[in-house]
Amino acid sequence: MIKITFVASDGERREVEIEEGETAREAALYNDVPGIDGDCGGVCACATCHVHVDPEWIDKVGRLMHDGMEADLLQFAEGTTEYSRLACQIPMKPMLDGLVLHLPEQQY
Ligand code: FES
Repeated sequence: MIKITFVASDGERREVEIEEGETAREAALYNDVPGIDGDCGGVCACATCHVHVDPEWIDKVGRLMHDGMEADLLQFAEGTTEYSRLACQIPMKPMLDGLVLHLPEQQY
């Protein structure tokens, strides 16, 4: 199992576990983490799974590619930063064990 910590904008931390191969979106939904709705089912079409990757983890997760669907969606999301990603586009793998993801202030 791989651990992820979701940090709400008020600082509340939720540590959850997920199997390799699932995504950070599933980790949030399976554990009722507030602020991640994942309305489109994880097919990169809604941006309701927007997260800010902790700066210490951004290189391992990978930065947003600026010429893809994920970037197209995030340009309309509120609170985007250089650390923004969609949780449904973060497949979990052992190298991400301990990952920290922050919820944008607009999502709660
Ligand atoms: S769940 Fe819809 S874009 Fe991630």
